[in-house]
Amino acid sequence: MAIQLGDVAPNFQADTTEGPIDLYEYLGDGWGILFSHPADFTPVCTTELGAFANRKDEFTKRNTKLIGVSVDSVESHKGWSKDIADTQGSALNYPLIGDEDRKVADLYGMIHPNALATLTVRSVFVIGPDKTVRLTLTYPASVGRNIDEILRVLDALQLGAEYPVSTPVDWTDGKDVIVSPALSDDEANERFPKGFTTQKPYLRLTPQPNR
Ligand code: BEZ
Repeated sequence: MAIQLGDVAPNFQADTTEGPIDLYEYLGDGWGILFSHPADFTPVCTTELGAFANRKDEFTKRNTKLIGVSVDSVESHKGWSKDIADTQGSALNYPLIGDEDRKVADLYGMIHPNALATLTVRSVFVIGPDKTVRLTLTYPASVGRNIDEILRVLDALQLGAEYPVSTPVDWTDGKDVIVSPALSDDEANERFPKGFTTQKPYLRLTPQPNR
């Protein structure tokens, strides 16, 4: 069955561009983003993997490690990394798994045969410090992902993990957030000293609490 939100992210050992890796050891106590791309030396993938490399610091700042995967070999990934550097400005600076036997792809259901017969689609799994899956995204080969959106949901997930809040439509870091309906008004006043506004009893907004 497909991996669903809240499931424990399956651990694995794999060969990568940075040597053999055990997923859980690599992630340690932090957050992780495991993402797949269809194939090396292809246009959309080149832009995506370059963008992840260019913005690695933004993930590190969020205590989040990146790890990519496709069914190409580690040697192929290393050769392609030069093209990524030439065209996108950064070579690979996070491990990329060579999953020729599709072990990781099958474990995480990254091959969607009705879309791409033998290649991984563009999957994203956000893994929390407790190793549970906090978010999944699936894009087809023809549509590149949006790094801003991945960072945005990571911010929202990390905020929700720390405070009893959720984030409204189009929320971005710094905007007001929604007070959990599980809190009474008294409890909300205690948890959110900046106060909150009540639009409906179930829709209460408060300034972002970690700002
Ligand atoms: C691409 O990255 O552009 C791509 C990769 C595999 C299939 C189709 C497109």
